Amino acid sequence: MSQALPLPISPGQPLTALAPMQDVTDLAFMRVVASYGAPDLFFTEFFRVHAQSRPERHILRSIDENDTGRPVFAQLIGEDIPHMVRTVEALLRHPVAGIDLNLGCPAPKVYKKNVGGGLLRDPDRIDLLIGALRQAVPGLLTVKMRIGFEDDAHFERILGIVVRHQVDLLTVHGRTVREMYRSEVHYDKIAQAAARVPCPLLANGNVTSAARAAEIVRDTGAAGVMIGRHAIRNPWIFRQCRERFAGREPLRVSLGDVRGYVERLYHATRQEGIPERAHVNKMKKYLNFVGQGVDPRGDFLRDMRRAESESELFGICDRHLLSDAGAAFAPEPYPGVIARPNCETPVGEPDGCSLETVSA
Ligand SMILES: Cc1cc2nc3c(=O)[nH]c(=O)nc-3n(C[C@H](O)[C@H](O)[C@H](O)COP(=O)(O)O)c2cc1C
Repeated sequence: MSQALPLPISPGQPLTALAPMQDVTDLAFMRVVASYGAPDLFFTEFFRVHAQSRPERHILRSIDENDTGRPVFAQLIGEDIPHMVRTVEALLRHPVAGIDLNLGCPAPKVYKKNVGGGLLRDPDRIDLLIGALRQAVPGLLTVKMRIGFEDDAHFERILGIVVRHQVDLLTVHGRTVREMYRSEVHYDKIAQAAARVPCPLLANGNVTSAARAAEIVRDTGAAGVMIGRHAIRNPWIFRQCRERFAGREPLRVSLGDVRGYVERLYHATRQEGIPERAHVNKMKKYLNFVGQGVDPRGDFLRDMRRAESESELFGICDRHLLSDAGAAFAPEPYPGVIARPNCETPVGEPDGCSLETVSA
């Protein structure tokens, strides 16, 4: 039934994966990340599954047109078994590396429908769902979960379900749904899962740098790491992980390098028909993360938020990133430089995890 995972770029090393991120990990972003050193594995943002759903075309592009050289898993969010199976069958007609089930999204609009993180309250339902998906997926079936909803009361039980249905790869984001994105990460729970499941496990949550990745792998016994927000801040992070795992000093990134990244991201993610001002606003959402490594006082963040046009934005980037272009881009985020302190107060309950609601 189950089959081997794709080999890592550097055989024998821990795996690296870019975390699925709604509104972020589209084809353009995956290409940009790959240009700085690809992760071993990619995951799409989630395909939403319900009675009327069809796989979203823009997410399919990240599978069909994937030219990064690395495999991409299709992530699904939903709970209705016939529709989940129907969607899996549709996705398996595309060049996916496997199918990933989302058991973690903490957005209230999502969990109130009993999908994503909401399912963690109902292990019986998870059992039926993973059982049905296992039947429907002849290749790789993977699961990405948090450690629980309110607490970790069902954690062991859900791990048992993962084992029984022979899931091929498990990612654990070491927080509960209630803990959203900012609490401490419970790496001890990740270690508990790594010891419990026979399949490889990816540790997720606040893997901020290559040095942290190596420590987390060592401390948890995980087979590798999945990295989300810190890959938006630092797209060199996967290459740096490989260097660190090989015992070498990771690449030193300069502020001038970051200026190049901003420009590449700007052009790669620009969509036809989207006005300049709207694209500048979208860029600010990525730059919220990038700014955490630029200066310890958050001056770049403060200034870039005021940009209203492409020329203003790049003028600000030039001032902050090119006046001392050789200076180091911090490998860890500067403490206390938080993009938007109110980020966890969703405005109007957005229906997913997006750059609108989640910050560093
Ligand atoms: C903007 C954003 C969108 C996200 N969208 C998804 C998603 O579609 N599916 C998913 O499983 N997790 C999603 N997540 C959660 C991440 O995959 C990851 O579990 C979380 O950010 C913790 O990892 P990090 O500390 O490396 O960012 C999202 C996170 C962010 C910041």
